[in-house]
Parts: sequence; structure tokens; C-alpha cells
Amino acid sequence: MTWWKDRTGYQIYPRSFQDSNGDGIGDLRGIIDRLDHLVDLGIGFIWLSPVYSSPMADNGYDISDYRNIAPEFGTLGDMDRLIAEADKRDIRIVMDLVVNHTSDQHPWFQEASASSQAEKRDWYLWRAPVNGGPPDDRRSYFGGPAWRYSAATEMYYLALFTPEQPDLNWNNADLRAEIWDMMRWWLDRGIGGFRMDVIDHIGKDVDAGIITDGPRLHDHLQEMHREVLAGRDALAVGEAWSATTDTALLYTGRDRGELDMMFQFAHITALWDDGHGKWRPKRFDLTAIKRVWTDWQIALQDDGWNALFWANHDLPRAVSRYGDEGAYRVRSAKALALVLHLMKGTPFVYQGEEIGMTNTRFDRIEDFRDIEVLNHYAEALAAGTAAQDFIAGANANGRDGGRTPVLWDDAPGAGFTTGTPWIGINANYKDINVAVDHADPNGVFAFYRQLIALRRGDGLIVHGRFAPFLDDHPQLWAYTREQAGEQLSVIANISGTEASSPVPPGLQVTGQPVLSSMAPRGSIGTKITLAPWEAFAVRGPLPGPSPTLPAK
Ligand code: GLC
Ligand code: CA
Repeated sequence: MTWWKDRTGYQIYPRSFQDSNGDGIGDLRGIIDRLDHLVDLGIGFIWLSPVYSSPMADNGYDISDYRNIAPEFGTLGDMDRLIAEADKRDIRIVMDLVVNHTSDQHPWFQEASASSQAEKRDWYLWRAPVNGGPPDDRRSYFGGPAWRYSAATEMYYLALFTPEQPDLNWNNADLRAEIWDMMRWWLDRGIGGFRMDVIDHIGKDVDAGIITDGPRLHDHLQEMHREVLAGRDALAVGEAWSATTDTALLYTGRDRGELDMMFQFAHITALWDDGHGKWRPKRFDLTAIKRVWTDWQIALQDDGWNALFWANHDLPRAVSRYGDEGAYRVRSAKALALVLHLMKGTPFVYQGEEIGMTNTRFDRIEDFRDIEVLNHYAEALAAGTAAQDFIAGANANGRDGGRTPVLWDDAPGAGFTTGTPWIGINANYKDINVAVDHADPNGVFAFYRQLIALRRGDGLIVHGRFAPFLDDHPQLWAYTREQAGEQLSVIANISGTEASSPVPPGLQVTGQPVLSSMAPRGSIGTKITLAPWEAFAVRGPLPGPSPTLPAK
């Protein structure tokens, strides 16, 4: 039942993975054509961002039919073929489940908004105007008010993301029953599970001003488990920006009957400005990042399970945000991967990360595509921000920079499309692409392949206990994993300058080499000195007198 513990996940953002018909938009047939790339990498399942019918206001996170596929991505037949072709290769397909909201074009909302007597009226959240305006002054995440006026019934509906994404009313039992039915319908088609979009929002109590972690959140998740997931071999991974080490086990504790693992974001928000959020990122601070990961590793040491990731379709690319886009691009990509994948949990690779792709930058607002950026741009300008300042922030931390097409080769269109891509392709595609990286035995891909192969079936890496070292070191990241008398030590220089430290007691720096971001240098004594972005792992029997014999 826990096939996902020693496998590595791979996120596909379908619009930008592979176009098969020259319309400039990635599609399901494109994914099928590229499955062997994923086999080669060794991944065990795909998290597929939404491919359902959608007007694409938020690139598919606004669904208008949960039981069909958007025409630009293909057909239900293509989806069945993808599931079958992936299955042949022992790769499972985990679909995105976006059920906090639908599209405003969903027939449910069309019906519900037309009349206050509509049968499905109560599937959404309606409130009467207060003093001729919205019921409260809550703001939406993507700009503008959260309550939107609907003229047909002269009432407001809640839309926490964009007005095109009305929030569903989870208190309605018929709605929940329909969602459970839809989930079973997909599982019966052979998918491997669900990644649940903003799942911490479904228990909200708007009148009490509670949006995440609402009073009924865990009731709903337990009902979902009973009705849909129990007894099935499916992976349930939730997305929760609100999750903390205190709430994590409410979702994933073994006796809870809810989810298998959570995407939490504390390591991401640790580098956001307290007042300005993502638009004004803080300077990189390794000790802050290590502290977050350590807290999560320890909180879920004995129960629950971590989802490990640096990037996804909402975040900047890993090397651009945490590594080095220049001279140390390859080495920093490897170092970041090593420290992430050898922690306890299931690692996720975001498409293109396996070759160390960098963020794409845009000079003009017209080149951006993301509704979040476009909506905030208008707001920011109205509030007096200079366009160039806003664009700098959008390039640093907006969502488009990591959403541009996967770079496959140096053909025009980078092997992604023969047509005009829906968003600009990174200008560095001639130097950074799958073909070039793949041909290099010391490339990023070769390193990821080894890292992913390592954890498959390896008890120490999958289950070993985690212990941190050198917590306050501003450049070095070090931790161990232990199981059955064996220890794995991971040591990385997360910086572009040489770093050193006395070897702390309990940290084993010599042993059987497991993997290294560069050719290992010199000898290591009582002091460790690491070159820029040097990172390695060694394993061996637990150091010191130990009553346990190494188990083999
Ligand atoms: C999640 C998705 C994001 C989307 C939002 C609304 O955070 O990852 O892409 O815009 O939910 O569905
Ligand atoms: Ca296409």
C-alpha cells in the first residue's frame, strides 16, 4: 500500500512539457511520446497538473468538466492511453484534484448563478450585499476582492483565487457525494491517486472568517477517505500552504484515515518578506532553510510522511532561486538535489529540473501569461509601483519563470514545438537542453538518475532516522540517516565559495562513497573543507562503539 515511499515523483505541467501537433501547447500525446525520458530518469509516478476541460483562466486550475479533457490537451481516449502506456513502464499517473473551486464556466456554477432557487445554488457560497457592497473586505489571492457581484441574483459569491474560480460550498452533502463519485470514476480508469489542490481550504467557515484549517476540514478528509480512498492502492497528497509541524499529523497521521503526505511550504515562505510576501523575496539564508527542513524531518520522524520538493509550477526554478545560474549551474543543481532527495520523504522533480533548467525572464508585461501576475500588475500600478519594479519582482518570484517549455534540444522551438509556443522559450535553450545534458556523463540528468535509483528499495534512505548537524553554519548543510547499525551522511556546501568546519562528533565524513556533485578531492581529517557547491554522501557502519552489527 505504500508504493510511493521509495519512488520519486515527477511533476508535469502539461502546457509546457511536449507539444505533439504544432499548436504551441503541450498535450497528452506529447507526454506519451516522452515517457521513455521519464523511464530513463527512473521516476515512479507522475503528478500531472490539470488536463480537465477548462477555459484556462488559471491554466487548468479552473475546471469546467471534471470528467473530460481540455481539447488542447487531447481526449479521454488519449488520457486512457497515457495511463496504459505509463502503466506498461511501471509509472503511475497521479492527477491534480482541484475541488476547492470550479471554473465559472462549469455548468454547476452556470446553473447556480442563474437563480437563487436553483437546485445547485447551495453548491457555491452566496452572501447578500452589506451596505450596498460586498459582505466583507476580504482580498483574493490573485488580486481584487474575494467577493464578486453576480447581477442575475444581486448577490455576491466567494472566489478566493480569481473571479473565474468560484469557491465550492463543502458543507453541501450532495456536492461532496458528487466529488467522491468523480474521484472513484478516475480511480476506476486506472490512475494512481490525486494531488489535492489547496486542500486546506475545503473546511472553511467564511462567516467566521476562517479560510484554512476550518472546523470541518478533517471531517471532510476523513469522509473522502472512507468514501473513495480506503482499500485502494492510491496516493493522496495534499497541497497546504497553511500546514505547520503542529498540523501536519492531523492530515497524515497513521490513525487519522486522511492523506498520505502533504506539500507544505515553510521552506519557501521562510525566504519571503514578512510584509510584502513573494513579490519581495528575502536574501537567501541557509540557516533558515535548514531549520525548516529539520523541523519537518523531526516532526514526521515516527509518523506521517514528507513530500520533498524545491520547485513546482507556482515557484521559481530551483537553481535560479537557491543555486547558481552561472558557472556553478550544474554543480549547484546536483548539490540541491542531493540534500533534498536523501532526506526522509518522497522527492518530487519538477519538469526540467533534471537538466538544471533556469528561470525564464521577461522584459515586458505583454510577455507574461499568468493571471496572478497580470492581475497584480494592474493593482500595483494603480497603487503607484513603477512598472519596471513590478516586473523585476515578477521575474524573481512570479509563476511564469518556471512555466516555460521544457528544453529538449537546440532546434527552433527547443524540441518542444514546431509552432509558436504559448509562452516564450528560455533564450538559453541552445546551451541548456535535454540532448546536451543527457550526452554528458557528468550532467545533471545522469546525477538525478543515480540519485533516484539509489532510494529504490533502500531501507536506510527510505526509512532511516534523520539527525541534523552544523545547524548554524551559513554555508554547510549536513545530516545523517541511520537504520539497523548503518549510517548515511550527507554533506553539502550550499554556496559559491569554499566552506569549512571542524567535523562535528557523530558525523561520519568517510565511508563508502555514495554520490558526489563533483570528483571527490583530497583527504578529509578532523576538518572538512568543501569546494563551492561540493556535496557528497557516504555510508558505513554507525561510528563509535555500537552494540548493533551492520545489518546486510
Ligand atoms: C494551487 C495551484 C495553483 C493554482 C491555485 C488555485 O496553489 O498550485 O497553480 O493557481 O491552487 O487553484
Ligand atoms: Ca499541442
